[in-house]
Amino acid sequence: MSHNIIVTGGAGFIGSHLVCALLSAGHRVVVLDDLSTGKLTNLPVHPNCHFIEVDIVDELALARIFESERPSLVYHEAAIASVQKSIHDPVRTSSVNDYGAKHIFELAVHVGSEQVIFASSAAVYGEDERLPKLETFEPTPLSPYGVQKWQNEIDAVRLAKKGRTRFTALRYFNVYGPKQDPQSEYSGVISIFVDRILQNKPITIFGNGEQTRDFVNIADVVQANMVVQELPSNVDIFNVGTAKKTSLIDLAKHLYSIENRIENIVFQPKREGDIRHSVADIGLLMSKTVYFPNVHILQGLQTLVSAVKSQRNR
Ligand code: NAD
Ligand code: UD1
Repeated sequence: MSHNIIVTGGAGFIGSHLVCALLSAGHRVVVLDDLSTGKLTNLPVHPNCHFIEVDIVDELALARIFESERPSLVYHEAAIASVQKSIHDPVRTSSVNDYGAKHIFELAVHVGSEQVIFASSAAVYGEDERLPKLETFEPTPLSPYGVQKWQNEIDAVRLAKKGRTRFTALRYFNVYGPKQDPQSEYSGVISIFVDRILQNKPITIFGNGEQTRDFVNIADVVQANMVVQELPSNVDIFNVGTAKKTSLIDLAKHLYSIENRIENIVFQPKREGDIRHSVADIGLLMSKTVYFPNVHILQGLQTLVSAVKSQRNR
């Protein structure tokens, strides 16, 4: 069935890949984005792809858009996606990540959307040291960002009781792939490392490099977003990862060996709010859908490095 879909944050890294998949599946897509980190060039030129520049904190503008579009499905990806930024600027991140999400969720219920699928985060698990992370663990976030994502899930549970809209929270682990912007100090670590290694500049590891992450390729994250469409439950919360962990030091080694370069690593103190180990249990998502993580980290890194190099040569 073809849907009219709103994708917030659709000009960003994850959102733009999702938009392409939704267009390929025959849906009409309306992207809402303030272009704070997203770029118009991330979006395809396609007759079914429409872009509206809007800040999700602007309640009135959002209400107008939802009233006229009346989307059957809403993907909410817009956020200030950085743990560090939430520590340095908790007020602005809270207004976007918490209140912005509330506006989107309330409006989806108000116009009778069938489902809201939204980006939560592994950051909700915080300081709980048990591994792998199970959705049943009580969240203990270490950063304002983790708290904001947890609040989104609490709002979803509350609103799912109010109307006919179903809510699906996807707790992404560490997502990587083409189009992830390396330019800010707040960018995802893989995009930064690839960028610096290709420029022959040293990389920085915060802490001793033994911290681990479940790095999940963008193709698998898009897959997760597609397979949860039409799930019957009022509320679902799923981890989205690979169930495999990689330390920062191993990540750096893989990248240097792909490029056949001598390691050039600077160590700095651990960052505030940094979780130590993170790996997903993905049994729940795999049991309720056909989700299967297809991209092995080594293969994903290799493809990413080639993509970034060919982009630069253009
Ligand atoms: P991104 O920064 O590339 O994308 C976020 C998009 O939201 C951008 O296009 C940005 O311009 C837009 N945006 C930000 N504030 C906005 C506002 N006030 N109004 C309208 N648009 C706004 O980041 P991403 O990595 O693609 O993250 C997408 C989502 O996934 C976010 O919700 C993030 O918290 C979540 N997430 C990301 C990861 C990851 O590893 N990248 C992991 C877990 C969760
Ligand atoms: C990331 C996402 C966040 C998501 C979370 C889910 C980004 C920017 N952040 O947070 O949206 O919700 O995963 O788990 O995509 N590091 C270095 N050197 C660097 C940069 C980072 O050593 O130059 C380290 C960090 O200290 C951290 C690890 O790499 O230990 C990962 O950092 P980062 O990519 O910023 O992601 P998270 O904080 O895990």
